[in-house]
Amino acid sequence: MTHPYKKVRKAVLPVAGLGTRLLPATKVMPKEMLTIVDRPLIQMAIEEALQAGIEEFIFVVSDGKEILLRHFEEPKAMMEMLESRGKTKEIDKVKASTLSHDSVKTAYQKKALGLGHAVWCAKDLVGDEPFAVILPDDTVRHTESCLAQMMHIYDAHGGNIIASCRVLPQDTTRYGMLAIEKDNDAVRINGLVEKPKPEDAPSDMGIFGRYILQPEIFAHLERHEKGAGGEIQLTDAMAHLVKEQPFYACEFKGERLDCGNDIGFVKAQIAYALDKDNLAADLIEYMTAKLKEYKA
Ligand code: G1P
Repeated sequence: MTHPYKKVRKAVLPVAGLGTRLLPATKVMPKEMLTIVDRPLIQMAIEEALQAGIEEFIFVVSDGKEILLRHFEEPKAMMEMLESRGKTKEIDKVKASTLSHDSVKTAYQKKALGLGHAVWCAKDLVGDEPFAVILPDDTVRHTESCLAQMMHIYDAHGGNIIASCRVLPQDTTRYGMLAIEKDNDAVRINGLVEKPKPEDAPSDMGIFGRYILQPEIFAHLERHEKGAGGEIQLTDAMAHLVKEQPFYACEFKGERLDCGNDIGFVKAQIAYALDKDNLAADLIEYMTAKLKEYKA
């Protein structure tokens, strides 16, 4: 690294939300436990972070969502059974989704006051160092994880990095939108607005659910300023910090899939299943037949 900023070792996972867009599936089951083919969304987020070199995971949960933490513990009885039966493939799968006790930390968000508030709840566990934020229902399908791609920009420039993607005019009210400017090999962010009307959006670049932030963001989150939708918005705190520190956009490579709503969730199932050698041929045959049936 050629800049004075510290290494990013921690990731915050704001997973306290109720997942109402996916009801009734989320009545009991946290949306982050819903699986895309064979992995829960929360596991995909952790694997993405591990690929980017993250060492510590801070889950911001609400009451009843502790199952998300349990997913990463070693299931002792199951392991004993698998070992006694010599099920090595299954053992590997369990191990791949187990995190060491020391690397997992928990913060509670007692009231659903917004994404900015959720991140603020992790303040003491983050401390005085930069950190990543991953929203698990936004996934990116690519050989190199989205956060790993963002780390390259961080290594080169430091500061704060936001994953960004093009947003259609009719969708600006669902995203944080960015004012950007080309700066040699980088894209600088000069301003941010949460969920503006299309005519108020500063560009067609929106915020995707991945961030690398400096700890100074907490001073702005601390004010608990209410923004769009009456919520404490992370975007508003970043709009203050951008006046003090550099922010860069990462136009990441890969297909973005929003698993926070039903159509995005279905598309993700298909896309990730097609990536699997043992499923692709069957699925293509099935979909081809279905398409014919649908057209008829
Ligand atoms: C949040 C952020 C928004 C961002 C979006 C990406 O909104 O507030 O800036 O564009 O995630 O998914 P939410 O989807 O939680 O309403």
